[in-house]
Amino acid sequence: MGRLYVTTPIYYVNDAPHIGHAYTTVIGDAICRWHRLQGDDVVFLTGTDEHGLKVAQTAEANGVTPQEWADRTVERFREAWRLLQIANDDFIRTSEPRHHLAVQRFLQTVYDNGDIELGTYEGPYCVSCEAYYAESELVDGCCPIHGIPVRLMKEENYFFRLSRYQDRLLRWYEDNPEAVQPATKRNEALGFIRQGLEDISITRTSLTWGVPVPWDDRHVFYVWYDALINYATAVGYGADPERFALWWPVVHHLIGKEILRFHCVWWPAMCMAAGIDPPHRVFVHGWLLVGGEKMSKTRLNQIAPRDLVADFGVDGYRYHFLRDQAFGPDGDFSYERMVDRYNADLANNLGNLLSRVATVVERKCGGVGPKPQDGSPLQSVAAEAYRATDEAWRRFAPSDALESTWRLIRETNAYLEANEPWRAEAGPGVDSVMGDALETLRIVAVLASPAMPAACAELWRRIGLPGRPQDQRLPGAAAWGGYPGGLPVERGDPLFPRKQ
Ligand code: MSP
Repeated sequence: MGRLYVTTPIYYVNDAPHIGHAYTTVIGDAICRWHRLQGDDVVFLTGTDEHGLKVAQTAEANGVTPQEWADRTVERFREAWRLLQIANDDFIRTSEPRHHLAVQRFLQTVYDNGDIELGTYEGPYCVSCEAYYAESELVDGCCPIHGIPVRLMKEENYFFRLSRYQDRLLRWYEDNPEAVQPATKRNEALGFIRQGLEDISITRTSLTWGVPVPWDDRHVFYVWYDALINYATAVGYGADPERFALWWPVVHHLIGKEILRFHCVWWPAMCMAAGIDPPHRVFVHGWLLVGGEKMSKTRLNQIAPRDLVADFGVDGYRYHFLRDQAFGPDGDFSYERMVDRYNADLANNLGNLLSRVATVVERKCGGVGPKPQDGSPLQSVAAEAYRATDEAWRRFAPSDALESTWRLIRETNAYLEANEPWRAEAGPGVDSVMGDALETLRIVAVLASPAMPAACAELWRRIGLPGRPQDQRLPGAAAWGGYPGGLPVERGDPLFPRKQ
Protein backbone atom coordinates (compact mmCIF):
# COMPACT_ATOMS: atom_id res chain seq x y z
CA MET A 1 0.00 0.00 0.00
CA GLY A 2 1.27 3.44 -0.93
CA ARG A 3 0.79 6.85 0.55
CA LEU A 4 0.04 10.07 -1.33
CA TYR A 5 -0.47 13.68 -0.30
CA VAL A 6 -1.89 15.94 -3.04
CA THR A 7 -2.48 19.68 -2.75
CA THR A 8 -4.09 22.36 -4.90
CA PRO A 9 -3.08 25.99 -4.60
CA ILE A 10 -5.14 27.72 -1.95
CA TYR A 11 -7.39 30.06 -3.89
CA TYR A 12 -7.84 33.74 -3.11
CA VAL A 13 -11.00 33.87 -1.07
CA ASN A 14 -11.94 37.14 -2.72
CA ASP A 15 -12.41 35.57 -6.14
CA ALA A 16 -15.45 33.71 -7.33
CA PRO A 17 -14.53 30.12 -8.27
CA HIS A 18 -14.22 29.72 -12.02
CA ILE A 19 -13.36 26.85 -14.34
CA GLY A 20 -9.62 27.61 -13.96
CA HIS A 21 -9.70 26.98 -10.21
CA ALA A 22 -11.92 23.98 -10.79
CA TYR A 23 -9.50 22.59 -13.38
CA THR A 24 -6.73 22.08 -10.82
CA THR A 25 -9.12 20.90 -8.12
CA VAL A 26 -10.88 18.30 -10.30
CA ILE A 27 -7.53 16.91 -11.47
CA GLY A 28 -6.30 16.59 -7.89
CA ASP A 29 -9.54 14.94 -6.85
CA ALA A 30 -9.49 12.43 -9.71
CA ILE A 31 -5.84 11.48 -9.09
CA CYS A 32 -6.60 10.90 -5.42
CA ARG A 33 -9.66 8.83 -6.26
CA TRP A 34 -7.49 6.64 -8.49
CA HIS A 35 -5.05 6.07 -5.66
CA ARG A 36 -7.84 5.30 -3.20
CA LEU A 37 -9.02 2.59 -5.65
CA GLN A 38 -5.53 1.17 -5.40
CA GLY A 39 -5.93 0.98 -1.63
CA ASP A 40 -3.41 3.77 -1.05
CA ASP A 41 -3.61 6.06 1.95
CA VAL A 42 -4.39 9.51 0.57
CA VAL A 43 -4.69 13.07 1.82
CA PHE A 44 -6.19 15.52 -0.65
CA LEU A 45 -5.98 19.13 0.44
CA THR A 46 -7.51 22.30 -0.94
CA GLY A 47 -8.44 25.58 0.72
CA THR A 48 -8.40 29.34 0.62
CA ASP A 49 -5.79 32.07 0.86
CA GLU A 50 -7.39 34.72 3.03
CA HIS A 51 -4.83 37.31 4.12
CA GLY A 52 -3.38 40.28 2.26
CA LEU A 53 -4.26 43.75 1.15
CA LYS A 54 -6.91 42.75 -1.37
CA VAL A 55 -9.12 41.02 1.19
CA ALA A 56 -8.57 43.80 3.73
CA GLN A 57 -9.58 46.44 1.16
CA THR A 58 -12.72 44.67 -0.07
CA ALA A 59 -13.82 43.92 3.47
CA GLU A 60 -13.49 47.58 4.32
CA ALA A 61 -15.39 48.61 1.20
CA ASN A 62 -18.18 46.27 2.30
CA GLY A 63 -18.18 47.55 5.86
CA VAL A 64 -17.18 44.27 7.52
CA THR A 65 -14.02 42.89 9.13
CA PRO A 66 -11.65 40.89 6.93
CA GLN A 67 -12.53 37.77 8.93
CA GLU A 68 -16.25 38.29 8.36
CA TRP A 69 -15.59 38.90 4.70
CA ALA A 70 -13.53 35.71 4.40
CA ASP A 71 -16.15 33.71 6.33
CA ARG A 72 -18.74 34.84 3.85
CA THR A 73 -16.76 34.38 0.64
CA VAL A 74 -15.16 31.04 1.51
CA GLU A 75 -18.60 29.50 1.13
CA ARG A 76 -18.44 30.02 -2.62
CA PHE A 77 -15.47 27.68 -2.82
CA ARG A 78 -16.98 25.11 -0.49
CA GLU A 79 -20.15 25.17 -2.54
CA ALA A 80 -18.32 24.83 -5.85
CA TRP A 81 -16.36 21.83 -4.59
CA ARG A 82 -19.52 20.20 -3.25
CA LEU A 83 -21.18 20.72 -6.61
CA LEU A 84 -18.23 19.12 -8.42
CA GLN A 85 -18.13 16.18 -5.99
CA ILE A 86 -14.63 16.97 -4.81
CA ALA A 87 -13.71 14.51 -2.07
CA ASN A 88 -11.07 16.57 -0.27
CA ASP A 89 -9.86 15.22 3.06
CA ASP A 90 -9.21 18.67 4.45
CA PHE A 91 -10.02 22.27 3.60
CA ILE A 92 -7.53 24.76 4.96
CA ARG A 93 -8.19 28.45 5.53
CA THR A 94 -5.16 30.58 6.25
CA SER A 95 -7.09 32.58 8.86
CA GLU A 96 -7.45 29.46 11.04
CA PRO A 97 -5.54 29.33 14.36
CA ARG A 98 -3.83 26.04 13.35
CA HIS A 99 -2.30 27.84 10.40
CA HIS A 100 -1.19 30.91 12.37
CA LEU A 101 0.53 28.58 14.78
CA ALA A 102 2.34 26.66 12.04
CA VAL A 103 3.43 29.84 10.20
CA GLN A 104 4.83 31.33 13.38
CA ARG A 105 6.72 28.15 14.26
CA PHE A 106 8.03 27.74 10.72
CA LEU A 107 9.26 31.31 10.31
CA GLN A 108 10.56 31.56 13.86
CA THR A 109 12.77 28.58 13.01
CA VAL A 110 14.03 30.33 9.87
CA TYR A 111 14.64 33.50 11.92
CA ASP A 112 16.51 31.57 14.60
CA ASN A 113 18.62 29.96 11.88
CA GLY A 114 19.71 33.46 10.81
CA ASP A 115 18.02 33.58 7.38
CA ILE A 116 15.59 36.42 8.17
CA GLU A 117 16.96 39.96 8.68
CA LEU A 118 15.58 43.51 8.82
CA GLY A 119 15.88 45.86 5.78
CA THR A 120 13.93 48.39 3.66
CA TYR A 121 12.02 47.57 0.53
CA GLU A 122 10.82 49.89 -2.18
CA GLY A 123 9.26 48.87 -5.47
CA PRO A 124 6.18 48.54 -7.70
CA TYR A 125 3.49 46.31 -6.16
CA CYS A 126 0.46 44.71 -7.80
CA VAL A 127 -2.41 44.41 -5.34
CA SER A 128 -4.10 41.70 -7.42
CA CYS A 129 -0.99 39.48 -7.44
CA GLU A 130 -0.06 40.54 -3.92
CA ALA A 131 3.50 40.73 -5.25
CA TYR A 132 6.29 43.19 -5.88
CA TYR A 133 7.68 43.40 -9.41
CA ALA A 134 10.99 44.62 -10.77
CA GLU A 135 10.60 47.71 -13.02
CA SER A 136 11.85 45.56 -15.92
CA GLU A 137 8.95 43.11 -15.49
CA LEU A 138 6.21 45.73 -15.91
CA VAL A 139 4.39 46.06 -19.21
CA ASP A 140 3.74 49.74 -20.02
CA GLY A 141 4.04 50.45 -16.33
CA CYS A 142 1.34 47.88 -15.49
CA CYS A 143 1.26 44.43 -13.90
CA PRO A 144 2.33 41.82 -16.51
CA ILE A 145 -0.43 39.41 -15.36
CA HIS A 146 -3.38 41.70 -14.67
CA GLY A 147 -2.55 44.65 -16.90
CA ILE A 148 -3.55 47.05 -14.12
CA PRO A 149 -1.47 49.93 -12.74
CA VAL A 150 0.96 49.02 -9.96
CA ARG A 151 1.57 51.08 -6.80
CA LEU A 152 4.95 52.21 -5.58
CA MET A 153 5.35 50.87 -2.04
CA LYS A 154 8.13 51.45 0.49
CA GLU A 155 8.35 49.57 3.75
CA GLU A 156 10.66 48.51 6.49
CA ASN A 157 10.55 44.77 6.15
CA TYR A 158 12.10 41.60 7.28
CA PHE A 159 13.88 39.89 4.43
CA PHE A 160 14.36 36.23 3.76
CA ARG A 161 17.95 35.71 2.59
CA LEU A 162 16.94 33.81 -0.54
CA SER A 163 20.24 34.81 -2.19
CA ARG A 164 22.03 32.36 0.07
CA TYR A 165 20.08 29.45 -1.40
CA GLN A 166 21.04 29.65 -5.06
CA ASP A 167 23.67 26.90 -4.98
CA ARG A 168 21.73 24.69 -2.64
CA LEU A 169 18.66 24.91 -4.84
CA LEU A 170 20.64 24.08 -7.97
CA ARG A 171 22.22 21.13 -6.25
CA TRP A 172 18.86 19.95 -4.98
CA TYR A 173 17.32 20.05 -8.46
CA GLU A 174 20.32 18.22 -9.84
CA ASP A 175 19.87 15.47 -7.26
CA ASN A 176 16.09 15.41 -7.71
CA PRO A 177 15.50 15.73 -11.46
CA GLU A 178 11.87 14.64 -11.15
CA ALA A 179 10.93 17.24 -8.55
CA VAL A 180 9.27 19.64 -10.99
CA GLN A 181 7.21 18.30 -13.88
CA PRO A 182 6.94 18.57 -16.82
CA ALA A 183 10.65 18.99 -17.67
CA THR A 184 10.00 22.30 -19.48
CA LYS A 185 8.77 23.76 -16.19
CA ARG A 186 11.75 22.36 -14.34
CA ASN A 187 13.97 24.20 -16.81
CA GLU A 188 12.01 27.37 -16.22
CA ALA A 189 12.60 27.06 -12.48
CA LEU A 190 16.30 26.40 -13.07
CA GLY A 191 16.40 29.48 -15.32
CA PHE A 192 15.04 31.68 -12.51
CA ILE A 193 17.57 30.28 -10.07
CA ARG A 194 20.52 30.68 -12.44
CA GLN A 195 19.61 34.33 -13.12
CA GLY A 196 20.57 34.99 -9.51
CA LEU A 197 18.27 35.26 -6.52
CA GLU A 198 17.55 38.41 -4.57
CA ASP A 199 16.50 38.47 -0.95
CA ILE A 200 12.76 38.84 -0.56
CA SER A 201 10.73 40.95 1.74
CA ILE A 202 8.46 38.75 3.82
CA THR A 203 6.70 41.05 6.26
CA ARG A 204 4.46 44.12 6.08
CA THR A 205 3.73 46.96 8.48
CA SER A 206 1.15 48.59 6.19
CA LEU A 207 -1.65 46.23 7.18
CA THR A 208 -2.74 44.11 10.13
CA TRP A 209 -4.70 41.41 8.30
CA GLY A 210 -2.14 38.63 8.34
CA VAL A 211 -0.17 36.33 10.63
CA PRO A 212 1.65 38.41 13.27
CA VAL A 213 5.44 38.14 13.27
CA PRO A 214 6.20 36.46 16.61
CA TRP A 215 9.42 38.40 17.29
CA ASP A 216 8.12 41.86 16.20
CA ASP A 217 4.44 42.68 16.66
CA ARG A 218 4.51 45.71 14.35
CA HIS A 219 4.70 43.33 11.41
CA VAL A 220 2.53 40.69 9.82
CA PHE A 221 3.89 38.14 7.34
CA TYR A 222 3.51 38.84 3.67
CA VAL A 223 0.55 36.88 2.32
CA TRP A 224 2.56 34.64 -0.03
CA TYR A 225 4.91 33.67 2.75
CA ASP A 226 2.11 32.60 4.98
CA ALA A 227 0.18 30.96 2.12
CA LEU A 228 2.92 28.54 1.05
CA ILE A 229 3.16 27.17 4.56
CA ASN A 230 -0.46 25.92 4.39
CA TYR A 231 0.82 22.72 2.81
CA ALA A 232 2.86 22.00 5.92
CA THR A 233 0.17 23.16 8.38
CA ALA A 234 -2.41 20.73 7.05
CA VAL A 235 -0.32 17.66 7.82
CA GLY A 236 0.64 18.74 11.30
CA TYR A 237 3.73 20.94 10.96
CA GLY A 238 4.63 22.28 14.39
CA ALA A 239 1.70 20.51 16.05
CA ASP A 240 1.96 16.80 15.29
CA PRO A 241 5.51 15.81 14.30
CA GLU A 242 4.62 12.17 13.69
CA ARG A 243 1.86 13.03 11.29
CA PHE A 244 4.07 15.53 9.52
CA ALA A 245 6.87 12.96 9.16
CA LEU A 246 4.40 10.53 7.61
CA TRP A 247 2.93 12.83 4.97
CA TRP A 248 5.55 15.43 4.10
CA PRO A 249 7.81 13.04 2.15
CA VAL A 250 4.93 12.20 -0.23
CA VAL A 251 3.64 15.70 -0.93
CA HIS A 252 2.63 16.48 -4.54
CA HIS A 253 1.73 20.09 -5.32
CA LEU A 254 -0.49 20.84 -8.32
CA ILE A 255 -0.17 24.42 -9.52
CA GLY A 256 -0.81 26.70 -12.49
CA LYS A 257 2.22 28.01 -14.34
CA GLU A 258 1.93 31.58 -13.05
CA ILE A 259 2.90 30.55 -9.53
CA LEU A 260 5.90 28.44 -10.49
CA ARG A 261 8.46 30.85 -9.04
CA PHE A 262 6.77 30.83 -5.64
CA HIS A 263 6.53 27.04 -5.54
CA CYS A 264 9.74 26.01 -7.26
CA VAL A 265 12.15 28.70 -6.04
CA TRP A 266 10.89 30.39 -2.87
CA TRP A 267 9.13 27.47 -1.26
CA PRO A 268 11.93 24.87 -1.54
CA ALA A 269 14.39 27.47 -0.20
CA MET A 270 12.06 28.25 2.70
CA CYS A 271 11.75 24.56 3.47
CA MET A 272 15.54 24.19 3.48
CA ALA A 273 15.84 27.21 5.77
CA ALA A 274 13.31 25.68 8.17
CA GLY A 275 15.16 22.36 8.12
CA ILE A 276 12.56 20.30 6.25
CA ASP A 277 12.78 18.69 2.81
CA PRO A 278 11.69 20.73 -0.21
CA PRO A 279 8.40 19.49 -1.71
CA HIS A 280 8.74 16.04 -3.20
CA ARG A 281 6.93 16.90 -6.49
CA VAL A 282 5.46 20.00 -8.09
CA PHE A 283 3.26 19.41 -11.14
CA VAL A 284 2.82 22.58 -13.17
CA HIS A 285 -0.03 22.96 -15.64
CA GLY A 286 -0.87 25.56 -18.25
CA TRP A 287 -3.84 27.88 -18.37
CA LEU A 288 -7.32 27.32 -19.57
CA LEU A 289 -7.91 30.23 -21.88
CA VAL A 290 -11.22 31.75 -22.85
CA GLY A 291 -11.14 33.38 -26.26
CA GLY A 292 -7.34 33.09 -26.18
CA GLU A 293 -6.98 34.97 -22.87
CA LYS A 294 -6.56 34.02 -19.23
CA MET A 295 -9.76 34.41 -17.26
CA SER A 296 -9.85 37.43 -15.01
CA LYS A 297 -12.32 39.66 -13.23
CA THR A 298 -11.12 42.69 -15.15
CA ARG A 299 -11.66 41.02 -18.54
CA LEU A 300 -15.11 39.76 -17.51
CA ASN A 301 -14.43 36.42 -19.15
CA GLN A 302 -14.77 34.09 -16.18
CA ILE A 303 -16.97 31.02 -16.50
CA ALA A 304 -18.49 29.56 -13.33
CA PRO A 305 -18.49 25.74 -13.07
CA ARG A 306 -22.18 25.72 -12.18
CA ASP A 307 -23.14 27.17 -15.59
CA LEU A 308 -21.53 24.24 -17.39
CA VAL A 309 -22.74 21.68 -14.84
CA ALA A 310 -26.28 22.87 -15.60
CA ASP A 311 -25.75 21.86 -19.24
CA PHE A 312 -23.52 18.78 -19.01
CA GLY A 313 -24.10 17.39 -15.52
CA VAL A 314 -21.34 17.03 -12.98
CA ASP A 315 -19.88 13.95 -14.66
CA GLY A 316 -19.91 15.54 -18.11
CA TYR A 317 -18.16 18.55 -16.61
CA ARG A 318 -15.45 16.58 -14.83
CA TYR A 319 -14.88 14.30 -17.80
CA HIS A 320 -14.42 17.20 -20.17
CA PHE A 321 -11.74 19.03 -18.28
CA LEU A 322 -9.87 15.87 -17.37
CA ARG A 323 -9.94 14.53 -20.91
CA ASP A 324 -9.79 17.58 -23.11
CA GLN A 325 -7.10 19.74 -21.57
CA ALA A 326 -3.81 17.83 -21.39
CA PHE A 327 -1.90 18.55 -18.20
CA GLY A 328 0.91 20.95 -19.13
CA PRO A 329 0.25 23.24 -22.08
CA ASP A 330 -2.29 26.08 -22.28
CA GLY A 331 -5.56 25.24 -23.98
CA ASP A 332 -8.53 27.24 -25.17
CA PHE A 333 -11.86 26.33 -23.63
CA SER A 334 -14.59 26.06 -26.22
CA TYR A 335 -18.24 25.31 -25.54
CA GLU A 336 -18.62 23.79 -29.01
CA ARG A 337 -15.76 21.39 -28.37
CA MET A 338 -17.30 20.47 -25.03
CA VAL A 339 -20.54 19.55 -26.83
CA ASP A 340 -18.65 17.56 -29.47
CA ARG A 341 -16.62 15.61 -26.97
CA TYR A 342 -19.61 14.97 -24.73
CA ASN A 343 -21.59 13.61 -27.68
CA ALA A 344 -18.71 11.52 -29.03
CA ASP A 345 -17.27 10.04 -25.84
CA LEU A 346 -20.17 10.01 -23.41
CA ALA A 347 -23.46 9.98 -25.33
CA ASN A 348 -22.16 7.81 -28.19
CA ASN A 349 -19.32 5.63 -26.96
CA LEU A 350 -20.17 4.91 -23.34
CA GLY A 351 -23.87 5.79 -23.29
CA ASN A 352 -24.58 3.77 -26.42
CA LEU A 353 -22.65 0.77 -25.19
CA LEU A 354 -24.73 0.64 -22.04
CA SER A 355 -28.04 1.13 -23.79
CA ARG A 356 -27.22 -1.47 -26.48
CA VAL A 357 -26.22 -4.00 -23.87
CA ALA A 358 -29.25 -3.33 -21.69
CA THR A 359 -31.59 -3.55 -24.69
CA VAL A 360 -30.22 -6.87 -25.96
CA VAL A 361 -30.12 -8.35 -22.45
CA GLU A 362 -33.75 -7.33 -22.00
CA ARG A 363 -34.86 -8.79 -25.33
CA LYS A 364 -32.69 -11.89 -25.57
CA CYS A 365 -31.62 -12.80 -22.07
CA GLY A 366 -34.83 -12.11 -20.16
CA GLY A 367 -33.32 -9.01 -18.55
CA VAL A 368 -30.76 -11.08 -16.66
CA GLY A 369 -27.07 -10.41 -17.36
CA PRO A 370 -25.07 -13.51 -18.38
CA LYS A 371 -21.53 -14.34 -17.24
CA PRO A 372 -18.48 -13.37 -19.33
CA GLN A 373 -16.50 -16.06 -21.18
CA ASP A 374 -13.16 -17.20 -20.00
CA GLY A 375 -10.67 -16.38 -22.75
CA SER A 376 -12.92 -13.78 -24.41
CA PRO A 377 -11.22 -11.69 -27.12
CA LEU A 378 -11.95 -8.66 -24.90
CA GLN A 379 -9.98 -10.11 -22.01
CA SER A 380 -6.56 -8.99 -23.24
CA VAL A 381 -7.98 -5.64 -24.36
CA ALA A 382 -9.27 -5.05 -20.85
CA ALA A 383 -5.95 -6.06 -19.31
CA GLU A 384 -4.07 -3.66 -21.56
CA ALA A 385 -6.59 -0.85 -20.88
CA TYR A 386 -6.07 -1.29 -17.17
CA ARG A 387 -2.29 -1.29 -17.49
CA ALA A 388 -2.24 1.88 -19.60
CA THR A 389 -4.88 3.65 -17.49
CA ASP A 390 -2.97 2.94 -14.30
CA GLU A 391 0.34 4.04 -15.78
CA ALA A 392 -1.17 7.35 -16.93
CA TRP A 393 -2.93 8.19 -13.63
CA ARG A 394 0.32 7.49 -11.81
CA ARG A 395 2.17 10.03 -13.91
CA PHE A 396 -0.63 12.59 -13.32
CA ALA A 397 -1.84 12.45 -16.92
CA PRO A 398 -5.66 12.22 -16.66
CA SER A 399 -6.22 12.83 -20.36
CA ASP A 400 -4.06 9.83 -21.32
CA ALA A 401 -5.66 7.74 -18.59
CA LEU A 402 -9.17 8.37 -19.91
CA GLU A 403 -8.07 7.81 -23.49
CA SER A 404 -6.77 4.39 -22.43
CA THR A 405 -10.03 3.53 -20.67
CA TRP A 406 -12.04 4.67 -23.68
CA ARG A 407 -10.09 2.34 -25.93
CA LEU A 408 -11.76 -0.52 -24.06
CA ILE A 409 -15.19 1.06 -24.63
CA ARG A 410 -14.53 1.49 -28.35
CA GLU A 411 -13.24 -2.08 -28.71
CA THR A 412 -16.31 -3.40 -26.95
CA ASN A 413 -18.61 -1.49 -29.29
CA ALA A 414 -16.63 -2.89 -32.22
CA TYR A 415 -16.96 -6.40 -30.76
CA LEU A 416 -20.73 -5.99 -30.57
CA GLU A 417 -20.88 -4.70 -34.13
CA ALA A 418 -18.83 -7.67 -35.33
CA ASN A 419 -21.07 -10.16 -33.50
CA GLU A 420 -24.42 -8.40 -33.96
CA PRO A 421 -26.12 -10.06 -30.98
CA TRP A 422 -29.24 -7.98 -31.74
CA ARG A 423 -29.70 -10.01 -34.96
CA ALA A 424 -28.80 -13.43 -33.57
CA GLU A 425 -31.13 -16.00 -32.05
CA ALA A 426 -31.27 -15.97 -28.26
CA GLY A 427 -29.05 -18.70 -26.86
CA PRO A 428 -25.52 -19.44 -25.60
CA GLY A 429 -23.87 -17.45 -28.44
CA VAL A 430 -25.71 -14.25 -27.54
CA ASP A 431 -25.23 -14.93 -23.84
CA SER A 432 -21.48 -15.12 -24.06
CA VAL A 433 -21.19 -11.94 -26.16
CA MET A 434 -23.44 -10.09 -23.73
CA GLY A 435 -21.57 -11.46 -20.72
CA ASP A 436 -18.33 -10.13 -22.22
CA ALA A 437 -19.85 -6.71 -22.83
CA LEU A 438 -21.24 -6.56 -19.30
CA GLU A 439 -17.83 -7.48 -17.96
CA THR A 440 -16.16 -4.61 -19.80
CA LEU A 441 -18.89 -2.25 -18.57
CA ARG A 442 -18.12 -3.40 -15.04
CA ILE A 443 -14.40 -2.76 -15.53
CA VAL A 444 -15.05 0.61 -17.20
CA ALA A 445 -17.27 1.64 -14.28
CA VAL A 446 -14.31 1.12 -11.96
CA LEU A 447 -11.65 2.64 -14.22
CA ALA A 448 -13.69 5.74 -15.06
CA SER A 449 -15.02 6.31 -11.53
CA PRO A 450 -12.25 8.76 -10.53
CA ALA A 451 -13.42 11.01 -13.37
CA MET A 452 -17.17 10.38 -13.13
CA PRO A 453 -18.09 9.04 -9.69
CA ALA A 454 -21.86 9.48 -9.99
CA ALA A 455 -22.34 8.24 -13.56
CA CYS A 456 -20.14 5.19 -12.89
CA ALA A 457 -22.14 4.38 -9.75
CA GLU A 458 -25.30 4.52 -11.83
CA LEU A 459 -23.77 2.33 -14.55
CA TRP A 460 -22.74 -0.16 -11.84
CA ARG A 461 -26.26 -0.20 -10.42
CA ARG A 462 -27.88 -0.66 -13.82
CA ILE A 463 -25.89 -3.80 -14.56
CA GLY A 464 -27.13 -5.17 -11.26
CA LEU A 465 -23.98 -4.92 -9.13
CA PRO A 466 -24.21 -4.18 -5.41
CA GLY A 467 -22.21 -1.37 -3.73
CA ARG A 468 -20.31 1.32 -5.61
CA PRO A 469 -17.43 1.14 -8.09
CA GLN A 470 -15.42 3.62 -6.03
CA ASP A 471 -15.39 1.14 -3.15
CA GLN A 472 -13.73 -1.58 -5.25
CA ARG A 473 -10.01 -2.34 -5.02
CA LEU A 474 -7.58 -2.45 -7.90
CA PRO A 475 -5.95 -4.37 -9.47
CA GLY A 476 -8.42 -7.12 -8.44
CA ALA A 477 -11.45 -5.19 -9.64
CA ALA A 478 -9.97 -4.92 -13.15
CA ALA A 479 -9.30 -8.65 -13.47
CA TRP A 480 -11.40 -10.44 -16.10
CA GLY A 481 -14.32 -12.50 -14.78
CA GLY A 482 -15.62 -10.32 -11.98
CA TYR A 483 -19.16 -9.97 -13.37
CA PRO A 484 -20.93 -12.90 -11.73
CA GLY A 485 -23.90 -13.18 -14.14
CA GLY A 486 -27.45 -13.77 -13.03
CA LEU A 487 -28.00 -10.11 -12.15
CA PRO A 488 -30.92 -7.96 -13.29
CA VAL A 489 -29.91 -5.41 -15.94
CA GLU A 490 -31.93 -2.22 -16.17
CA ARG A 491 -32.36 -0.23 -19.36
CA GLY A 492 -33.44 3.15 -17.98
CA ASP A 493 -33.07 6.55 -19.63
CA PRO A 494 -29.90 7.42 -21.54
CA LEU A 495 -27.06 7.92 -19.09
CA PHE A 496 -25.76 10.84 -21.16
CA PRO A 497 -28.55 12.40 -23.23
CA ARG A 498 -27.21 13.78 -26.51
CA LYS A 499 -26.65 17.52 -26.78
CA GLN A 500 -27.68 19.43 -29.88
N1 MSP B 1 -3.49 32.27 -3.58
C1 MSP B 1 -2.56 32.00 -4.60
C2 MSP B 1 -1.97 30.62 -4.47
C3 MSP B 1 -1.29 30.34 -3.17
S1 MSP B 1 -0.77 28.70 -3.07
C4 MSP B 1 0.21 28.65 -1.73
C5 MSP B 1 -3.26 32.11 -5.95
N2 MSP B 1 -4.59 31.94 -5.94
S2 MSP B 1 -5.56 31.99 -7.21
O1 MSP B 1 -6.90 32.03 -6.67
O2 MSP B 1 -5.18 33.02 -8.10
O3 MSP B 1 -5.42 30.60 -7.88
C6 MSP B 1 -4.41 30.33 -8.79
C7 MSP B 1 -4.54 28.90 -9.27
O4 MSP B 1 -5.85 28.63 -9.78
C8 MSP B 1 -3.61 28.58 -10.44
O5 MSP B 1 -2.30 28.30 -10.03
C9 MSP B 1 -4.32 27.39 -11.03
O6 MSP B 1 -4.12 26.27 -10.23
C10 MSP B 1 -5.77 27.82 -10.93
N3 MSP B 1 -6.16 28.65 -12.06
C11 MSP B 1 -6.61 29.92 -12.03
N4 MSP B 1 -6.87 30.34 -13.29
C12 MSP B 1 -6.58 29.35 -14.15
C13 MSP B 1 -6.73 29.17 -15.52
N5 MSP B 1 -7.18 30.11 -16.30
N6 MSP B 1 -6.40 27.97 -16.02
C14 MSP B 1 -5.97 26.93 -15.26
N7 MSP B 1 -5.81 27.08 -13.96
C15 MSP B 1 -6.05 28.28 -13.39
O7 MSP B 1 -2.59 32.26 -6.95
